[in-house]
Amino acid sequence: MEQQKKYLFEYKGFYFSVETSPEYVASLEDFEINDSDIFIATYPKSGTVWTQNILSLIIHEGHRNGTENMETMERIPWLEYNTKDRDYADLPLPRVFATHLPYYLLPRDLRRKRGRVIYVTRNPKDVMVSFYHFSKYICSLEEIPDFNLFMERFLAGKVLASSWLDHVEGWCSHAEDFNILFVTYEEMKKDLRSAVLKICNFLGRKLSEEEVDSVVKQATFENMRKDPRANYENLPDDIVEKNKGSFLRKGTVGDWKNIMTVAQNERFDKVLNEKIKTLPIKFIWDI
Ligand code: A3P
Repeated sequence: MEQQKKYLFEYKGFYFSVETSPEYVASLEDFEINDSDIFIATYPKSGTVWTQNILSLIIHEGHRNGTENMETMERIPWLEYNTKDRDYADLPLPRVFATHLPYYLLPRDLRRKRGRVIYVTRNPKDVMVSFYHFSKYICSLEEIPDFNLFMERFLAGKVLASSWLDHVEGWCSHAEDFNILFVTYEEMKKDLRSAVLKICNFLGRKLSEEEVDSVVKQATFENMRKDPRANYENLPDDIVEKNKGSFLRKGTVGDWKNIMTVAQNERFDKVLNEKIKTLPIKFIWDI
C-alpha cells in the first residue's frame, strides 16, 4: 500500500514541517543568545521575507558591508529549520534570525529579555489567502487545491504553525517577557518610511535621510521582486515548484476579497471575529 506523505509533526501543541525534528526544536530552549541578536517572529505569510530584507538593508548598509552576495536565507536563517547544521559562526553581526515559533518555544534567554524581537502581524484573511497559494508553491507543504478545505484547516489550526489566533494572542499576551516591537504588514504597506524609522528606533540605529530613502526604495515589492538576494528565487527545485508561484506573489492588502465568497467570509468572521476584537492589534482589512 502506498504510504501517505507526512508533511507536519506536532511538538508541544505546535505544527512544524518535517524538515526539522522535535529533538532540534527542543534543543532551541538552550540556544545561546547574544544581547545584540535580533529575531523576526511571525505567523507564516505575515511579511517575514519583507522584514528580513528591511533588516538586512538597515543593518548591513544596504546589502554592502561584506554581505553583498548573501541570500536572505543565509544572512537571516530560520531558527527552527537549521537544515544545514550551521553553527552560525559565519553570520554577520548583529545576528538576525527569522522564526515562526510561538512565544513559549523560543530560546530561554530571549524570554529573559536578552536580544530583541520584532513581531510582525498581518490581517488573517490575507494571511490565509497567501498561505493557500504558498502551499501550492512550496514542496514541503501539502497542496490543498480546494480553497474551502484550506480555510477549514486554517481555522482549525491544522496547518504549519498551527492556529493564527493562538500565535498572535500568545505573543501579545506575553509581550512583557520580551524586548519586543510589534509591526503590522499593513503599516509597512501604508507608509514604509515610517515603519523603517520605527524599526531603526527600536534597534538604536541612526541612518541618514539618504540611507532611509535607500532602504525604502530597495524594500518595495517591485524592487524586491527583481533582487535575487531578497526574493528567494534561487531556492532549489526540491524546495519550491517555480512554475506554481513565488515568495513575492501579489504584496497587497485586501487580496482576500478576490477569492473568498460571501459565505466563506461570514464563516471566517463567525469563527474569529469576536476573538480578534479582544487582541490589542487593530487589523486593517483593505487599503
Ligand atoms: P502575498 O502572497 O499576499 O503576495 P512571508 O514572507 O511571511 O511568507 O509573507 C509573504 C507575503 O509577503 C506575500 O504576500 C508576499 O508577496 C508579501 N511580501 C513580501 N515582500 C513584500 C514587499 N516588499 N511588499 C509587500 N508585500 C511583500
